[in-house]
Amino acid sequence: MGADHVAINRDVWDADAKNWVAGGERLWRAREPVWGNWELAEASLNLLPADLAGKDAIELGCGTGYVAGWLARRGARVTAIDVSANQLATARRLAEEHGVQIRFIEGNAEDTGLPDAGFDFAISEYGAAIWCPPGKWLREAWRLLRPGGRLVFLGNHPMALICSPESGAPCEAVLHRPYRGMWGVDWTRVELDPSGICFNLTMAGWMDLFAGIGFRVRKYQELYAPESATGTRAFVPAEWAREYPVEQVWHLEKPA
Ligand SMILES: C[S@@+](CC[C@H](N)C(=O)[O-])C[C@H]1O[C@@H](n2cnc3c(N)ncnc32)[C@H](O)[C@@H]1O
Repeated sequence: MGADHVAINRDVWDADAKNWVAGGERLWRAREPVWGNWELAEASLNLLPADLAGKDAIELGCGTGYVAGWLARRGARVTAIDVSANQLATARRLAEEHGVQIRFIEGNAEDTGLPDAGFDFAISEYGAAIWCPPGKWLREAWRLLRPGGRLVFLGNHPMALICSPESGAPCEAVLHRPYRGMWGVDWTRVELDPSGICFNLTMAGWMDLFAGIGFRVRKYQELYAPESATGTRAFVPAEWAREYPVEQVWHLEKPA
């Protein structure tokens, strides 16, 4: 995959940003964080550290910025980077409306230009977590973290990608794509609802990469849709996501 994935994904998000405004407004109003496409409660998942007060935190690929908002409301000094100027315009407006201080940066989460070891906590929910090549953005996250710092990221489970038809139609309980050699999906090429280029790895691929960089895995979570879920979110029907893991969350640590 060439470096043009950054420009392709930026253009996709700049064009799509208007469709994320209402969702961003709703999640900025949420009192408690909810995660992923099925909006699972923080109380059941614990993605955020218990104590963020006075800590330096960064969101990598912040979109409309509600995750950054949750970090700031928990007392962190927050930086949030996104490659899409239009997504950032929504994020900046909502942060101001909610009276929340966040340093927003327009840029590439794979190469932020920020100094080494400036952060205690890094997070990505469907940002760099899926839109950037893991070997690039994870090395950047490692560089940004202080020793003892933590990284949490959430994105599609590889199983959701291999069960996704080549046409871009919703997931089925059928293996449509090879697992071996998985690098992600080029959604620009699908017939139905094309978007950008997203990245993922096999389980062994993720584990090898973490070990190669030096990250320690603290926890790994596989997420399902709730029993009450209906409809289709992103490219995944609720019936599928109740039976198969639709999303994954990695909790990593840069050892002290
Ligand atoms: C789905 S949003 C993630 C934000 C939010 N958590 C959410 O789920 O809506 C994906 C964001 O990733 C951003 N993104 C894609 N590639 C990026 C890159 N290379 N660097 C920084 N941000 C990127 C997009 O611009 C978009 O705003």
